[in-house]
Amino acid sequence: MNKKANLYFNIFVLAFLSFDVHSQITYDKVKVPEYKLPELLISNNGKKIQIPEDWINIRRPEIIRLFEAYVYGGVPEVCLEIKFATIKTDLNALYGKAIKKNIVAFIINEVDTVQMELLIFIPANAKKPVPLFLGMNFYGNQSIHHDSSIPITKSYVNNNPEYNIFNHKATYESRGSDSSSWPVERILERGYGLATFCYGDLDPDFDDGFKNGIHSLLDYSEKNDSNKLSSISAWAYGLTTVMDYFETDEHINKSQIIVIGHSRLGKTALWAGAIDQRFAIIISNNSGCGGAALSRRKTGETVKDINTGFPHWFSRNFHYFNDKENELPVDQHMLIGLIAPRPVYVGSAEQDKWADPYGEFLSLYHAGPVYKLFGSDIISKDTLPEINKPLWTGKMGYHIRAGDHGIKRFDWEKYLDFADYHFNRKSK
Ligand code: GCU
Repeated sequence: MNKKANLYFNIFVLAFLSFDVHSQITYDKVKVPEYKLPELLISNNGKKIQIPEDWINIRRPEIIRLFEAYVYGGVPEVCLEIKFATIKTDLNALYGKAIKKNIVAFIINEVDTVQMELLIFIPANAKKPVPLFLGMNFYGNQSIHHDSSIPITKSYVNNNPEYNIFNHKATYESRGSDSSSWPVERILERGYGLATFCYGDLDPDFDDGFKNGIHSLLDYSEKNDSNKLSSISAWAYGLTTVMDYFETDEHINKSQIIVIGHSRLGKTALWAGAIDQRFAIIISNNSGCGGAALSRRKTGETVKDINTGFPHWFSRNFHYFNDKENELPVDQHMLIGLIAPRPVYVGSAEQDKWADPYGEFLSLYHAGPVYKLFGSDIISKDTLPEINKPLWTGKMGYHIRAGDHGIKRFDWEKYLDFADYHFNRKSK
């Protein structure tokens, strides 16, 4: 797609989202095709996986390779140097409720640097290192809260203005523009830290043939192999890079990091959680196609829809499976399986038919055998739970909230409860 066409397409998609058409189309009428899921517990050479060691040493690496080769491409392999700098620490932020830190990660090759601006809040009264939610934001760090001391994220302002149709908001007006998705004070009150950065720091969200963002740092051969690249992997790379920083911060309990993401960033949270086992809990909110939803159901957004609308999110190889979902060597239950034995939570929304809520639930359900291998209880029935009634079994959590696509207070409360439960904390 040329630049103009791409711009118009993005405007169309955003208009589509904001007019809430998702909920008005009756996807329920679409018949789910017959499908058979690829085997989770049989290795490429036919070996039955029956013990955790075989999963860890044989099947898990195989499945990661399959997702890299056919769906997400790889996280950049080149040896990029990373340096972290603390720009500012405010011990009295949010009227004394938080310690606020502005950290910049410099991702460096011999000639160029990409910067990630990380914003961190820690509960001010914390007596020991805190568990922390890590989630990328869409519109810059300043969008998550009205606090005027949060620097406006540069990549959000500097991205090619032709594409940045929110550009008018990239000023003081964008402060707090997405605060309803980020209950910062509540997260702090419950004893958790929160860290965020803008996904555009790693790769601006438009199709440029993998030239900008972190891709600009790759060497020629890697850049040319577009099968290996995807924006989702670039964003996931950001999450794992930040994890390196957490390992050095005395305010943060590095063994209790929860990676969370909404929508396209929910797809990314699952992929990052799958490949980086340092994340303790993985949460995907309304992640849909290419996230928690089973591709083979072809319900709501299909593989072809997503590759057409967002050609850069996945590797070029994934495009081959447009209308050929049954040929995919993986399906998304295998992505959830990669998270085992760690806790995973999938959140859906009733009217978010585009994301196929039942397909999101089924991935979790069909990942059960891997969790069982590790001795964990698993979801026993493939029946969708009632609206607003979370289902937690063993390490798996699921809810379908009333309402449409979005990350709401209800979702956060359940995610906080789930984290409390798995970290043995008393809920507040
Ligand atoms: C579009 C896209 C979804 C994606 C969503 C988002 O609706 O089709 O796959 O999850 O955007 O990220 O907001």
